[in-house]
Amino acid sequence: MIKNICLAAVAFMLAFFPADARRTPKTAPAPVVKPEVSPCIIPVETDGTQLLLAADREGTLRIVHYGAKVADPDSFLGYRFGMGIRYGEGPMAYPTAGGLEHGQTALHVKYADGTHNTELCYVSHGKKLDGNVCETSVLLKDYVTNLEVKLIYTAYLKEDVIQARAEILNGGKSVLELLEYASSCLDLLSDKYLLTHFHGDWAYEMQVDRELLTHDTKVIESRRGVQTTSHKNPSFLLSLSTSEFREDEGEVVAGALEWSGNFRLSFQQDESGHLRVLSGISPYASAWKLKAGESFVTPAMLYTWSDKGGGGASRNLHRWARNYGVYGGAKIKPTLLNSWEGAYFSFTTETLLRMIDDAAAMGLEMFVLDDGWFGNEFPRDNDRAGLGDWDLNRSKIPEGIDYLASYAHSKGLKFGIWIEPEMVNPASVLAREHPEWIVKAPGRENYQIRNQWILDLSNPKVQDFVFGVFDRTMSQSPSIDYVKWDCNRSVASFGSDFLGADQDRFYVSYIQGLYKVMERVRQKYPDTLIQCCSGGGSRVDYGSLAWCDEFWTSDNTDAVSRIRIQYGSSLIYPACVMASHVSAVPNHQTGDVTSLKFRFDMACAGRLGMELQPRNMSADERAFAARCIESYKQFRDLVYTGDLYRLASPYDGDYYALMYVSEDRSRAVVFTYCLRYRNRSQATHTFRLKGLDPDRLYKVTELNADAPCWRGDGQCFSGSFLEGGGFNPELLKPRSSAVFLLEAR
Ligand code: DGJ
Repeated sequence: MIKNICLAAVAFMLAFFPADARRTPKTAPAPVVKPEVSPCIIPVETDGTQLLLAADREGTLRIVHYGAKVADPDSFLGYRFGMGIRYGEGPMAYPTAGGLEHGQTALHVKYADGTHNTELCYVSHGKKLDGNVCETSVLLKDYVTNLEVKLIYTAYLKEDVIQARAEILNGGKSVLELLEYASSCLDLLSDKYLLTHFHGDWAYEMQVDRELLTHDTKVIESRRGVQTTSHKNPSFLLSLSTSEFREDEGEVVAGALEWSGNFRLSFQQDESGHLRVLSGISPYASAWKLKAGESFVTPAMLYTWSDKGGGGASRNLHRWARNYGVYGGAKIKPTLLNSWEGAYFSFTTETLLRMIDDAAAMGLEMFVLDDGWFGNEFPRDNDRAGLGDWDLNRSKIPEGIDYLASYAHSKGLKFGIWIEPEMVNPASVLAREHPEWIVKAPGRENYQIRNQWILDLSNPKVQDFVFGVFDRTMSQSPSIDYVKWDCNRSVASFGSDFLGADQDRFYVSYIQGLYKVMERVRQKYPDTLIQCCSGGGSRVDYGSLAWCDEFWTSDNTDAVSRIRIQYGSSLIYPACVMASHVSAVPNHQTGDVTSLKFRFDMACAGRLGMELQPRNMSADERAFAARCIESYKQFRDLVYTGDLYRLASPYDGDYYALMYVSEDRSRAVVFTYCLRYRNRSQATHTFRLKGLDPDRLYKVTELNADAPCWRGDGQCFSGSFLEGGGFNPELLKPRSSAVFLLEAR
C-alpha cells in the first residue's frame, strides 16, 4: 500500500513538473563561506574620549563604546550584546541592508542582478598619526560581492572631536546602485536620550527643539537641495541619562555634518535601548550608481563627547572649528557697515561714498556693498531683474567699483561686495542666452522663488560660469577684500539638461559642483574674506565653513529675535563665524524697537557689524556707536577665541547671559540681557560666572554705560566670588543689557 502511494507520487511529480524544474539549477551558487577573523579592538582616541570598534570572529565590526576613556579597551573583546551576535544583530559600526539587519541602515546597495544584500566583514585597519591628528581607517568587504567600505575616523586629539566618513568602492564587475550611503553610524547605550535639534524658517533660524526620544525612529531631514539649513540644521546634541538639558554637567554627544545639501539624521532606539544615530546625505531622489572600480566618498560627520554638559560639547566643537573647520579659523575680521538695510537697491555713488565716510567716522573697518550694483539691460533695481548679469550698473556707479573700493581704502576701510552667482532672474541676459543652464523639469512649470531660478551647478560649464562671476567681480578692483556669497532660493521641481537620464545625481552633484568652484576660488583667492550667506542663515553648516570665513546668521537683525537665533547657533558654531549687525529701529523684519545699547550688546557677542543708514542716526547715537565699536575692539579677541560659557538660557527664564573666557583665564567678557520684567528687587538675578580661576582677582568693568548697573563696577573680586553667587547686576527692565570686561590682576 505504502509502496503504491510512493509510486503514484513519483508519477505525479514526473507528469506535472518538467525535468529542469525538479533539479537544483547548475548555476545556483553554493553559499560563500564567510572568512573567519581574529577578533580585535580598534580604538579611536582623543585626549579625553574614546570610540571603540570591535571586530568579532565573523568579521562584523561593531561599536562597543563612545565616551570617557577606559584604561583597558581590550576587555571589550569578550563583551556580548545578549543573544544576537550575528551579522545584523547588535550595534554595528556601519549597518547595511542584508544579513539579519532589520533596522535603519547606513548602506543600502542594489546590485545589477536586482539583489539587495550586503554583509560587510572586517579585513584590516591602519593608523596614521600627524601631530594632533590621528586617522584610523578600517577596511570592510562584502564577502560575496566584493563591495568595499573604508570607514575613516579622524581624531583631533586636543579638541576631543572625531570626524567620520566612509569611502565606498564597487569591487565587483557590474554597476551597482547606492540607495543609502550614510557618512557614519554611531551606537549609544543609555537609559534616556534627550535630543536637542534645530528648527526654524527664514529670519527665524536655529530655534531649539528638545525631545526625549522614544522607541523607533526620529528623522531630521532636508530635501530643499540648497538653502538646507533655513528650517533645520544638520547637527544635534544628545544629552544622556537625563530628561533635562544640562549646560554644565552630564554626558552629551554632539554631532554636525559637513555638507551643504540634502541631509538626513536619524535616531533609532531599538528594543534593547540602544540608539543608532545615522547621518549623511539624504537618500531622497539620490540613488548613486557606481561602475566597477568606482568609489564614492561621503561627506564627513563630526562628533564630540563631553561630560561637562551641552557647554562642554559646544566648546569642543568651537575649538575644532577655530583650529580646523572654518576656512580662516579665528582670524580677526573687520567690523563693517553693510549697505543692505541702509540703502537696499536704491543708491548712487554719492550714497555709498557718504556711507563709507560715516563708517570710517564711527570706527568701523570695512564697507560692504550689498545687492543692486550690477545689470544694465536688466538693471538690478529690485529683486525681479538682473541676477546673472554681473556687469557693473553704469548708471548707478558710473565711476566703477575700483573707485569706491579705493575710496574706502583711502579712508582706512576695507571693501567688500555681494554676489549671488548660483542664481538667475528670468529677466536677464543670462536666462535668454543659456536656458540650458537653468534647473527645470522638462514639460513642467519652472517655479520662481524670490523671482529667480537656480543654475545647474552639476554642469561643469555652469561651474566655470560661477567661478567666473567671482573672478570677474574680483577683477574690478585690487582693493576688494571681502565677498558676501548669497543664495536666495531652494530647489523645486528639479531637472538637469546636463545629467540627461542620470537625474538621480542632481542633488549630490550640485553640492559637489559648488565645492569644486569654492576650491578654485580658494586656490586663486586664498586671502579674500568670504561670507557665506543664504537668505540669512540657510547655509549654516560645516561643509560651507570649510571654504568660508563666516556666515550671515540671519536676515532677522532684531536684537530680541537674535537672542534665540544666536543662542541656538552657539550650541554648534563658534562666535567668530556668527555675523551680527546693529540695524535701525523699528526693526525692518519685526517692527520691534530696542535701544541702541541693547542692539550693540547683542551684536557684540558675535562678529560685530552695522547695517543701516548712518545719516538717519542722531549725533548722540553715532557717538555712542563709536564708543561701542571702540570697546568691542578691546575684547573681540575673547569673542573670537575665548571659551564660551552660557550662563542663562533664553528658553528657561527671564535672562540670557553668556561669557567668553581667554584660554589662560586671565580675561573674560560677560554679556547679560534681561528679557522679561520679573520684580523690583535690586538683586533680581544672580549670574554665576564660569570658567574663571577661583583663586585669581578680576577687575570688573562695565562697558558702554554711563551709570553702571553693578555695585562692584571698577573693583576687584575673586573668581570664586564671581562664580559663587556674588555677581548680581541690576537688570530690571526688559530689553536692558550690560556687558562687563573682567581682567585678572
Ligand atoms: C539676502 C541676504 O541675506 C541679505 O543680507 C541681502 O544680502 C539680500 N539677500 C540681498 O538681496
